[in-house]
Amino acid sequence: MSTIQEREERYSTGVYNKREVTIVRGEGAHLWDEHGKEYIDCAAGMGVASLGHAHPIVAEAIAAQARTLITCPELFYNDQRAQLLEKLAAVTPPGLDRIFLCNSGTEAVEGALKFARMSTGKPNFIATMRAFHGRTMGALAATWDPSYRKYFEPLPEGFRHVPYDKLEALEEAMDDNTAAVLLEVVQGEGGVRPASAAYLQGAQELCRQRDVLLIIDEVQTGFGRTGKFFACEHYGLQPDILTMAKAMAGGLPMGAFAIGERVQTIHKGTHSSTFGGNPLACAAASAVLDVLQGQRLPEYAAEVGAYFKERLRAIDSSKIREVRGLGLMLGMELKEKVAPYLRGLMERGVIALAAGTTVLRFLPPLIIPIEDIDTVVSQVTEVLQA
Ligand SMILES: Cc1ncc(COP(=O)(O)O)c(C=O)c1O
Repeated sequence: MSTIQEREERYSTGVYNKREVTIVRGEGAHLWDEHGKEYIDCAAGMGVASLGHAHPIVAEAIAAQARTLITCPELFYNDQRAQLLEKLAAVTPPGLDRIFLCNSGTEAVEGALKFARMSTGKPNFIATMRAFHGRTMGALAATWDPSYRKYFEPLPEGFRHVPYDKLEALEEAMDDNTAAVLLEVVQGEGGVRPASAAYLQGAQELCRQRDVLLIIDEVQTGFGRTGKFFACEHYGLQPDILTMAKAMAGGLPMGAFAIGERVQTIHKGTHSSTFGGNPLACAAASAVLDVLQGQRLPEYAAEVGAYFKERLRAIDSSKIREVRGLGLMLGMELKEKVAPYLRGLMERGVIALAAGTTVLRFLPPLIIPIEDIDTVVSQVTEVLQA
């Protein structure tokens, strides 16, 4: 263990499982550790650094705004916030043009749940098995994995989980007290599992028929990750609330949720956030949106993601159960635990993630060059043979 690692261990709570590497620098799709070793980054800070690291346009936007005004709560109006809201409303699915700005994915989900209860006056939520929506109490109640929940009960009441991608189960669970259904288009932490178009469209239809709100959680899938600006667009979904975070501000902490016209009753003063909508994060997010659109990165993610998936599928190994995903959100499910393979990949200069215990997850920056993908595929092939 290096001295940096010892210092972190000494003064942090110890709640994180960390890998024995100290990352000190990044550029594009590459990272460097304290000893100068270079890695291809297929984690992107857990789906955050979609434009890669140290992007000059984002860095400049942050630096310029830091010199101008960092903080300005929503007690006041602000130029950077107004600009971002306008740009965001132009890229969210039709009708989702009122937006609450916050600081993380879990906070976006928390706010979405609160708005759903406030607007409908109903208490209950339906989420799905293997869903992940965050770690604060409300979002955790919507998260499925019992190992994330068990030390923190009692969690807020009114949540139930039904099997994912099974429309009948969703229909059976709905009743007059259901405020909203909460879904990921592709379950991320739950193992990179895309839902079928029929399920997602059927869920939307059911929600409209039964006067229930549909919350789509795009914290991981948003901002081009799946090959569309929002994953909803693959299936023409128009949720009532859409949550976002991760890649939104190029690595600065930021989250948001957008609401549609079925979210009607909003009482002033019932929700807020000190840091939400701060000019620094807004300036960064504005720059991110410009680059994503200007460089057509969602389209690039679709193309390059299809290539990456095909190449992973072509690896001949009896250890692989399935390769799945959408755009540059890819999972390789193994028939065994992935931890040793993640370590092997790190030794070979590739940083990837796990999703659960048996899925290798790849969330590279959307700007990853094709040669890096070829290198990653050969390293995955080798590590599976070792
Ligand atoms: C779909 C989804 N929702 C919510 C969250 C929570 O986001 P955060 O870690 O920013 O609180 C995550 C994080 O992985 C996520 O994937």
